[in-house]
Amino acid sequence: MEVRAAVLRRSVKVVVFDLYGTIVDMQAGLTEAVTPYLEEKGWDGAPHRFVTWWRRTHFENSMIDSLCDRGHTPYREISHRALAYVMDRCGFAYTQAEVVRLVSEIERLRPFPEVPAALERLRGAGHVLAILSNGDRDMLEAAMPHVGVPFDHVISVQEAQAFKPHWRTYARAAEIVGADRSACLLVANHAFDCIGAKAYGMRTAFIDRRSRPFGETPHRPDLIVEDMRALAAVLA
Ligand code: LAC
Repeated sequence: MEVRAAVLRRSVKVVVFDLYGTIVDMQAGLTEAVTPYLEEKGWDGAPHRFVTWWRRTHFENSMIDSLCDRGHTPYREISHRALAYVMDRCGFAYTQAEVVRLVSEIERLRPFPEVPAALERLRGAGHVLAILSNGDRDMLEAAMPHVGVPFDHVISVQEAQAFKPHWRTYARAAEIVGADRSACLLVANHAFDCIGAKAYGMRTAFIDRRSRPFGETPHRPDLIVEDMRALAAVLA
């Protein structure tokens, strides 16, 4: 661990963060948003499970979009479709305006509590900070004031016309930040994102807030830490 940490401190110039679920607490924020809504609808399942179902459906659809590779569908549109699908499966009536309103909550998600101080520490240590998100450009712009921490680059995968973990997204990010892929550390709490970045040739750190197994893969992360404070402690 110590040798690996020293290698990362020496070689990493740009720390590239995933946004949803890594910087901002998507599961908690969306669960908070859907709880009164589901109650109104008389749906008696657990709201956090509804959110997980929505996010998994979203993820599946965004990967289908990337794999088909026949034009990039906006994140917002994928999210509208995913949420409507889950509500259809739940079997209650809803309007498109309700779908749009719930999806717009994604733009107001707040960061995990330790994130602002950890990012300041990384910045203080001379790292360039970037976001690479599957979110649309305007969604990222809207989210930034709620995140409350400045980034040197805020990059939407719209720049690559594909969703992560398509390799083009990491290639475009490296190009935009102007660093070699091996000098970029992709930080995410999703294994798929770490795998995609690592397979492309970036360094990766897995934020393992809930002590989940990473899963067997040849594209192991360089670092597994419990939160952003721990990441900053290794890199700064
Ligand atoms: C993002 C999702 C994948 O921000 O968390 O890109």
